[in-house]
Amino acid sequence: MTLALHHHGPDDALPLVLLHGFPLDASMWDDVVALLPDLPVVTVDAPGFGASVLAGDPPQPSLETYADAVAAALAGVGITRAVVAGLSMGGYAVLALAERHRGLLAAVGLLDAKATADDAAARDARLAAATAAEGEAGAGVVAGMLTTTLGATTLREQPAVVEDLRARLAAAPPAGIAWAQRAMAHRSERLWVLEDLEVPALVLRGAEDAGAPQEAAEAMAAALSDVEVVVVPRVGHMSALEAPAAVADALRALHARAR
Ligand code: MLT
Repeated sequence: MTLALHHHGPDDALPLVLLHGFPLDASMWDDVVALLPDLPVVTVDAPGFGASVLAGDPPQPSLETYADAVAAALAGVGITRAVVAGLSMGGYAVLALAERHRGLLAAVGLLDAKATADDAAARDARLAAATAAEGEAGAGVVAGMLTTTLGATTLREQPAVVEDLRARLAAAPPAGIAWAQRAMAHRSERLWVLEDLEVPALVLRGAEDAGAPQEAAEAMAAALSDVEVVVVPRVGHMSALEAPAAVADALRALHARAR
């Protein structure tokens, strides 16, 4: 499986690689990237999203497959060391990279993410959503994420962000939705991989995020040895869309700490 990479800015320093949340694509980072014109940024489309089309007989869905494909795509353009940050599903992929491709990581960012696995009910709901996405419902299965992911303040005060996410959810590719839901349903608990991860880390969450709760962020921060914790006020689960300036500032600080 070949993943699409999108290069931004110069290419003369340690790259900052950004992995997007479900069910969006690399363009979810556009407003963040625009605020980091001096950094070499590589955004990645997850399997089945953006330009990473699932063709032929795609591999079994898993975060491990996704992480391996990220490492391979980066190696394919000569990137063997990078600051890698992921938002929610992207964060799950960062955790899988920390387990399987640790040497790639000069620093890690875990945004609106959690290191826990799903319980049985959540797993079943994901598998049902995957099947529904492949049927008549299509992208309709993710329409409800508009109100469950954006923070209450954004829903009230940022109509342009609400409309942007509404359009992104309506355009989400059913094959990508299904692949990603099955991959996330089967993901492992990975708090343990953070316990001996010695590179600088960022744990960022929106204060109004119900999907990646404070306890989850605290658990990841407690496991890490060199961590900055950022809580963005008045923001929900889609921090990169809801508060791109705060996210860009935190990523810039993480990049500066990388060794
Ligand atoms: C995301 O934003 O990537 C999703 O909320 C991840 C998930 O469904 O666990």
